Amino acid sequence: MPKVTVVDFMGEIQKEFTVESGTKLLKALIDHEVEIVHTCGGNAKCTTCRVTIHKGVPTKKTQAQQERFERAIKSGQPQFDHPAVFLSCQVVVENDITVSASETFNSVIHDSLGKDTEDKVTPDPVWLDHEVPDWWGG
Ligand code: FES
Repeated sequence: MPKVTVVDFMGEIQKEFTVESGTKLLKALIDHEVEIVHTCGGNAKCTTCRVTIHKGVPTKKTQAQQERFERAIKSGQPQFDHPAVFLSCQVVVENDITVSASETFNSVIHDSLGKDTEDKVTPDPVWLDHEVPDWWGG
């Protein structure tokens, strides 16, 4: 079973756990009490569930994520133009993966963690190839 390692922004390990291959990353994080925000409930709309994947970057991404990131970049958010930034609601865990959450719960900023999310990736995924450049090493 693949191992999920959650690190903070300094690279310190916060949690480690294993999941069934094919588990949606957002669901795995929620089930293991990582306080990642997921406002839209996992529908590639809000981007609050985004993660940086330090190791184990997938070689596929959903079209829904791609389109959401293109809109974000066009609206002046260059942080979405990075090969290791993914929406955790659009990732299935198939290999060991190390991630850090970009937006964790803060009661001053957020009303709640977000809506419930389904076990499967929604909307129904159309998978696109994702290239991971050598310089990232992940
Ligand atoms: S984009 Fe909203 S939860 Fe993933």
